[in-house]
Amino acid sequence: MCFKSSIVSYPDRGHWGNNKYRGNCSGHIIKDFIQTYGNPNSLVVDPSIGGGTFMDVAKELGVAYVGTDLHQGFNLLTDSLADEVAKHYQTKANLVFWHPPYADMIKYSGNMYGEVNPYDLSQMGIETFGQFVQVALFNIYDALQDGGVYGVLIGNMRRKGRYYNLSSMIERLAPGVLIDEIIKTQHNNVSDSRQYTGNIVRIMHEKLLVFRKEKSVTPIAPMRKRLEKHAENLVRSTIYASCLGRKRVELIQLYALVEPFGYMQEDVNIIVDEEVKARRLAITNQQQIYIP
Ligand SMILES: C[S@@+](CC[C@H](N)C(=O)[O-])C[C@H]1O[C@@H](n2cnc3c(N)ncnc32)[C@H](O)[C@@H]1O
Repeated sequence: MCFKSSIVSYPDRGHWGNNKYRGNCSGHIIKDFIQTYGNPNSLVVDPSIGGGTFMDVAKELGVAYVGTDLHQGFNLLTDSLADEVAKHYQTKANLVFWHPPYADMIKYSGNMYGEVNPYDLSQMGIETFGQFVQVALFNIYDALQDGGVYGVLIGNMRRKGRYYNLSSMIERLAPGVLIDEIIKTQHNNVSDSRQYTGNIVRIMHEKLLVFRKEKSVTPIAPMRKRLEKHAENLVRSTIYASCLGRKRVELIQLYALVEPFGYMQEDVNIIVDEEVKARRLAITNQQQIYIP
């Protein structure tokens, strides 16, 4: 079926995929997504299949598909999704469905499978998650044909009385044109069984945000360049923020910060030199940067 309105509700998740895989989603929403935005000749892709719901739906619909995940050795933050698709088909994707972790709400690596992987989006706090999720979104965008569509299914969360709107975060960061927002009511989620005290509004929905890749956009800079720029900004803003707060920042901290991006220590040293000169900072023998 196609989506008939912007609100959907699937009381049973259906028979697709592994229903024991934590945080798995209903196959109905994947089926409706493919049938609304695709056609029988579409090539559909899911870079984070989890318990395989997407693969089972795609097989049943008889469409060409590529499905992978960190637990299959594919890392959406460092490996090109376009190259992964190209291993199987000679064309880019028509549709991508992405159901990322909801930040660290459920941990995957080291919990559902294998050892803890620092590139696992579920191992990141909300702020870091936001930075890395953008890299993932651009990777997905690169893997799409012009006019192709991608959907991101995500829920929101509350912690210590604060509401974290992860779907709004995705909407702000995602490249392309937003074409639909599908609200999916949740059934039998963990919070249903928790005892709440006070007037807390229970979160009972997730959102599927749907974006289209526009033909006329300027080509995306290669992933490597994007990551390098991101790492550089991180170094500069960390120095700036520490000095503003009159705190010292150690060179070694800066190395550790950008190490996951594969950013070289020599490049950090160059940025530090520039910042020290430009902002009239000083650096101690112990390699701490500070305002003299
Ligand atoms: C919410 S689950 C997906 C559930 C799936 N839709 C299902 O129905 O079973 C999120 C998945 O994202 C994967 N993931 C986390 N970080 C990743 C990364 N860097 N690259 C690829 N997949 C990642 C996790 O391994 C996990 O399986």
